[in-house]
Amino acid sequence: MRTLADLGEVAGQRVLVRVDFNVPVHDGTVTDDTRIAAALPTLNELRERGAALVLVSHLGRPQEREPELSLAPVAQRLSELIGEPVKLAPGARGDEVAHLASALRDRDILLLENIRYEPGETKNDPDLAADLAGLADAYVDDAFGAAHRAHASTVGVAELMERRAAGLLLAHEVDTLTEVLRDPARPLVAVLGGAKVSDKIGVIRSFQRVADTILIGGAMCFPFLKAMGHSVGDSLCAQDDVKLALSAMAGDSIGGPEATLQLPSDLVLADHFGDDAEPVALDGLEVPDGMMGLDIGPRSADGYAETIQRAGTVFWNGPMGAFELEPFAAGTRTVARAVADCPGTTVVGGGDSAAALHQFGLQDRVTHLSTGGGASMELIEGKELPGVEVLS
Ligand code: 3PG
Repeated sequence: MRTLADLGEVAGQRVLVRVDFNVPVHDGTVTDDTRIAAALPTLNELRERGAALVLVSHLGRPQEREPELSLAPVAQRLSELIGEPVKLAPGARGDEVAHLASALRDRDILLLENIRYEPGETKNDPDLAADLAGLADAYVDDAFGAAHRAHASTVGVAELMERRAAGLLLAHEVDTLTEVLRDPARPLVAVLGGAKVSDKIGVIRSFQRVADTILIGGAMCFPFLKAMGHSVGDSLCAQDDVKLALSAMAGDSIGGPEATLQLPSDLVLADHFGDDAEPVALDGLEVPDGMMGLDIGPRSADGYAETIQRAGTVFWNGPMGAFELEPFAAGTRTVARAVADCPGTTVVGGGDSAAALHQFGLQDRVTHLSTGGGASMELIEGKELPGVEVLS
């Protein structure tokens, strides 16, 4: 992977930087600026080296030019973080954008408007890629969260730019996540939760090959429990997921199970999902009809926490229960605290686990909190990320 050092001299030049500023925005204000802050080291380094920056990002998945998906609030937040004005271009291509880019002076920053307003972006349209390439002398991709997308601003434009490199964030994410699989301090413990086995099966298989222990939580545990003959009541449990759980337990894809796969031994139930749901402790695993599992129980959470604390490396992705509802947050909180207290290397995939760490105020207590949800999962599954491959 080419790095910023490989770009050579950038003083007096324009660098097109693909960033992932796909952040939550509420009423015109950015409510979580983690991804913007995470790109600052790359932006600062390039500016210190004398470059002007043209930034490209998507926000959401607009079907058309939806005004609420404008990057205006992001430009405002970036400007506050960097302490300099950040100009927002009215679009991502065309004469006015080209003019704004050519008028940039050293260290100036121009943010293009949401690149997904352009229908060609997600189709990796060569004309859009060529227009983007025409705006700058070199290309840097720091959008790890979008590296699993082969789009015009992540792959098409990179192929056209002779001088291209990974930004500091993207390079660090790829190095850290691949290191977990390649050469982890042992024991390697994978803590996997979330709603569906089908979303995580690739990650489970990957960890079955390399981890020492896999701890399963969240609604994802019910297909496993059903496959083992337990009753799951009204818990989330798709039949296809039961088949996947059975095949994972048999170790079908890897010629026999390697890592020890652990499931909860107690649960917290309710008769429905909602703010007003009453938690009911179940010391066991037989969920009666009319009830659903919404969290792992305290004995399971404490057992998982012990395993986590003894780990040399922990990889955590997915909550243990419906942590957004306080009565069902205990399992996820216990696991999050154990990850935070673990003296080993702790790596947390993005998405819900990141949200959980923020909710419990533990986001600064892990070795690495990934800014990529889908991208980090695909990397752990062993897939090649097109946005990374093109930087070689
Ligand atoms: C993310 O939030 O995971 C990335 O920004 C990618 O967004 P996407 O799933 O809409 O491509």
